Amino acid sequence: MGNSLRAAALLAFVVLSILLSLLISSMQQFGARISHFSNASLAGDEETASLRRALIYQLNERRKEIIPLLPPIDNDENRQSGETRFSSRLDSTLDYNLWNEITDGSRKAHMDGMGCDSLAGMQAVDVLGSGYTKLVVKVNLAGGQPVALKLVNEQGIDMGKCLEDFKDPQGCRELVSYKLQKEIVLLQRLQHPNVIKLKGHCVGDAGNHGEKGTEGGRVTVILEQGSPLQMIQLLQSPWEDRFRVCLDLVQLLHFLSQSPLGSVALLDFQPRQFVTVSGKLKLTDLDDASAEETTCQTDADCTLQFPKRNFTVPCSAQGVCEGLNEKRNIYNAYRYFFTYLLPHQAPPGLTHLVDNIMNSTGELKADINQTLEAFERILLLYKSGLHLDNLPPSIIRDYTVMRGMGTSGNVEYRCWPSYSQQGCVLSVHSAREAAYICNYHSQCNSFSLTGEKTWTGRFLASFRSSFTHLVPDETLEVYVKKTKVPENPPV
Ligand SMILES: Nc1ncnc2c1ncn2[C@@H]1O[C@H](COP(=O)(O)OP(=O)(O)OP(=O)(O)O)[C@@H](O)[C@H]1O
Ligand SMILES: *[C@@H]1O[C@H](CO)[C@@H](O)[C@H](O)[C@H]1NC(C)=O
Ligand SMILES: *[C@@H]1O[C@H](CO)[C@@H](O)[C@H](O)[C@H]1NC(C)=O
Ligand SMILES: *[C@@H]1O[C@H](CO)[C@@H](O)[C@H](O)[C@H]1NC(C)=O
Ligand SMILES: *[C@@H]1O[C@H](CO)[C@@H](O)[C@H](O)[C@H]1NC(C)=O
Repeated sequence: MGNSLRAAALLAFVVLSILLSLLISSMQQFGARISHFSNASLAGDEETASLRRALIYQLNERRKEIIPLLPPIDNDENRQSGETRFSSRLDSTLDYNLWNEITDGSRKAHMDGMGCDSLAGMQAVDVLGSGYTKLVVKVNLAGGQPVALKLVNEQGIDMGKCLEDFKDPQGCRELVSYKLQKEIVLLQRLQHPNVIKLKGHCVGDAGNHGEKGTEGGRVTVILEQGSPLQMIQLLQSPWEDRFRVCLDLVQLLHFLSQSPLGSVALLDFQPRQFVTVSGKLKLTDLDDASAEETTCQTDADCTLQFPKRNFTVPCSAQGVCEGLNEKRNIYNAYRYFFTYLLPHQAPPGLTHLVDNIMNSTGELKADINQTLEAFERILLLYKSGLHLDNLPPSIIRDYTVMRGMGTSGNVEYRCWPSYSQQGCVLSVHSAREAAYICNYHSQCNSFSLTGEKTWTGRFLASFRSSFTHLVPDETLEVYVKKTKVPENPPV
């Protein structure tokens, strides 16, 4: 399996290298304002002509989807007044600079920093991922800066389907590029710590060297580089890290429920739409985000259907389903993330709060504000160690402490889920919690608090069976069990 995977990766890489070289070689050329299709060869061919009309119709549909997402002309004023409803806005109030920039490469708006020139001299390092629509490449820019580039996936399902339907590679590339262009606009408008950062974009007229203005632009999105979310790996990591992913997700959904575009739903809500950047969860696939409200006449028009549950939300007097987008997001967070990541190995003092969250999100009883509050309460308790209040204070007296000491000649043992592969390293609020854990592990006879901390500020403690020497180390404290205590102390 490993070999065929590697071969596939290699193939993708070769394809990619070709793509990238095309891209670089054509960086200086920019397309005309409006896309043209070379229709000389099609003259007289009725079928081809009707295919072309259908494709142009599709192109217009995609365009219509993006226009309402463009920023209003006075960006700053809008940001302060917050509330905007694009549907009630006229096109004349929209700022088309961004549109011109992403369709023909003009650099009037400078909405985001980097352009095609930033990509000169870059080095492709690896393929980060690919999907139906896009190919994502890990790249080092000439200055050494690591970024991720998103391009049309020439081998993707979107491209394949389009070619089958319209048999027009250039037109199809342009059609699929609309998804990248929509993503650029959304990334521009939905800036948040839990949304991948847009560093820039490049619209180059590729594939038709020298013949200027005859083809639609090739779009490259320049993004902050992340690591694809590995659910399997996450399932094996400490609860603290899994909780972080869920908290980040809730913070994102809180923002999306009241974003500059209104309440935004993520229609394709799956772990593969997310990456992590230094442990922080970030949304990277926005082409399926929708700010549209569902209109209704009765409550029955406002149902959310999922494989295991259906929900109905009220139809408002204004004829829109109230909070439908927000609720859809919450339930998806529950079914794709919380059920896998949250309950398992939650700290004993927090399980009832975690259970409450599982129930209120799984039943859609809480809105996103209440859900965020519940998560923040857990974080606060966890950071402050208040959830450990019923650990007996005397527990630490079972240990002799040696400050400014480390150990050598350790006999390690494994525990789960350890921060270290070699031994047992867990996060603790205090020496008292570490003592409690050491009492609970039959192999444990000593532990050290290291100076290292986790994202919540808890200490990393390493547990071991025994050691041969004590060595001076300013940053450590060694605790050694005085006598054998019962292996399973009462909780
Ligand atoms: N900034 C990034 N850093 C690292 N990896 C990324 C980044 N952006 C995307 N990826 C990876 O590339 C994959 C494909 O990107 P993306 O989801 O945007 O493409 P797609 O064609 O829309 O995929 P899908 O078919 O899943 O909708 C993602 O699943 C993710 O793992
Ligand atoms: C392509 O078609 C349009 C209208 O259908 C026509 O105006 C134009 O001249 C054609 N271009 C070529 C190169 O034939
Ligand atoms: C949800 O509603 C659909 C359509 O009304 C129905 O077919 C389905 O059985 C319902 N699913 C559940 C789990 O209730
Ligand atoms: C929520 O709690 C109720 C009552 O205990 C229970 O019947 C229901 O199954 C729970 N729902 C979820 C999604 O956990
Ligand atoms: C949710 O919180 C935001 C501020 O974070 C506030 O503006 C909004 O009114 C709240 N919504 C509800 C339904 O309480």
